[in-house]
Amino acid sequence: MSTIDPEVYTLKNRKKLTIRTALAKDASQLVKLMKGVIKEGPFTLYESDEYSSTAKSEAKRIKRFKDAPGKIYLVAEMKNEIAGFISFDNWDTRRTTHTGLFSIFLKKKFRGMGIGKLLIKSMLNWGKHNPVNKKISLAVFSTNKNAIALYRKLGFRREGCCRRDMIINGKYVDSVLMYKFTK
Ligand SMILES: CC(C)(COP(=O)(O)OP(=O)(O)OC[C@H]1O[C@@H](n2cnc3c(N)ncnc32)[C@H](O)[C@@H]1OP(=O)(O)O)[C@@H](O)C(=O)NCCC(=O)NCCS
Repeated sequence: MSTIDPEVYTLKNRKKLTIRTALAKDASQLVKLMKGVIKEGPFTLYESDEYSSTAKSEAKRIKRFKDAPGKIYLVAEMKNEIAGFISFDNWDTRRTTHTGLFSIFLKKKFRGMGIGKLLIKSMLNWGKHNPVNKKISLAVFSTNKNAIALYRKLGFRREGCCRRDMIINGKYVDSVLMYKFTK
């Protein structure tokens, strides 16, 4: 079972934000959120017609994350609206279960308020106290300067670069790999 106790924060703009474990009831909001981010274009591996998650499949994924000791799925909620999420998915073999990759996505209107930083800090705190986790990694498009600045600020270090890892609008884009040890 992998959950956190809900955390309540007051943002710079004085609005209250709760970070909590994702629940099955969040599934349809999360799918909508992801569809919105994919439509924006520059942030995801998927293009719109390649994203096939539904509320039902997402609810299953939420349960899978909750049941696995080395995974965590958190949402940031403001007045019953999901502003964004972070999901850390560890690998499945005994030799690799201590590590994995996270994804973080916020709705456009909630960006730049400090929510991303809080979500990552909550995940790192979970990792620090989790019996399985030792290392948290991520892959980010080299073009995503804001995200890279945020990860650096929170102590993530560059592990490498996968050249020409994607083709976006006909142009090659590199992936930057970053990591942080939680213990
Ligand atoms: C990347 C993302 C998760 C960051 O979350 P956020 O809530 O917008 O970021 P925060 O407000 O917590 O910002 C934290 C830091 O990020 C950096 N940052 C955020 N927005 C920035 C901007 N517009 N320009 C420069 N740096 C920026 C700053 O270093 C900032 O630190 P500071 O608050 O000390 O100045 C969010 O913007 C997002 O969902 N973006 C679209 C999807 C995406 O890129 N996901 C990541 C894929 S790897």
